[in-house]
Amino acid sequence: MSRRGAPEELRRLSASLREFIEYQRRLGLAWLEGNLPPVQAPLAASAISRPVEARAVAETTPPVSLDDIRQEMGDCRRCKLWRTRTNLVFGTGNPKARLMFIGEAPGAEEDQQGEPFVGAAGQLLNRLLERLGLNRQEVYITNVAKCRPPNNRNPDAEEIAACRPFLIQQIQAIQPRVIVTLGAVATHALLESKKPLNRLRGQWQTWQGIPVMPTFHPSYLLRVPQDRIKTWEDMQKVLAVCRDEAKAR
Ligand code: URA
Repeated sequence: MSRRGAPEELRRLSASLREFIEYQRRLGLAWLEGNLPPVQAPLAASAISRPVEARAVAETTPPVSLDDIRQEMGDCRRCKLWRTRTNLVFGTGNPKARLMFIGEAPGAEEDQQGEPFVGAAGQLLNRLLERLGLNRQEVYITNVAKCRPPNNRNPDAEEIAACRPFLIQQIQAIQPRVIVTLGAVATHALLESKKPLNRLRGQWQTWQGIPVMPTFHPSYLLRVPQDRIKTWEDMQKVLAVCRDEAKAR
C-alpha cells in the first residue's frame, strides 16, 4: 500500500467497522422490537448441545443425573417456600446443553406450570433465544430458587442457601460450556459475590472454571427496554465463545 493509500484504506476499514457495529445494533433492536423475521441460525446446533459421542468421552463419570437430582429434591421442604408453592420448578431443556441460563426464582405462571420462564419474562427470553438462532430445547434453563417466593419477592438468603446445592449439582450434571446468569440474584448466588450487577454485567466471570456471563434479567428488560441492546451485546460474547469452542472440536 502506498503512503497516500493508507488513510484511504483506514477510512474504508473504519466505515466497514461502523457498518458492522450498526448491523449488530440493528439485530439487537430487532429483538427489542420483535418485528423482523428470525435471523438465520448463527450457530450450528452442535455448538450449543454436545454430540452424543463426545459425551461418552467427556463424562465418563457424570456426578449424578438431573433425574437423580430431581429425585433427591423430592417434595422439598428444606425452606419455607414449600408452604406456598404449587409446583417445584426444577429446570428445562437439554441435559447436555453447552449453554445454561440461570434465573432467580419461579413467578406465578412458572409455579402453575412447573416450568421456568413461561410467563412474560419467559416470552422475552424466548424471543432473545430465537433472535440468536437458538431455542429452549437446545439450552438448559433453571433458577437459583426452585419454588416461587410469595408475591414474587426475591428469594431470601436462607431460601437461596437451601436450594443452591441443587443448582450446583445441576451445573455439574450438565457441564455447560458457558453459563448466563440473569439478573443480580442469580449472579450473586452463583458467584457468591456482592458486587453490584452493573459492575459484573457484560464482563466474563468464572465459576469453577466455567465462564459465566452475567446479564440483565428479562423482567428488568421488560421494564427498561432500552437496556435490551446491552443483553444483546452480552449474548454476542457468549455466542462467540460457543463458536470458538465448536471450531476447536
Ligand atoms: N423469573 C425468573 O427468574 N425465573 C422464572 O422462571 C421466571 C421469572
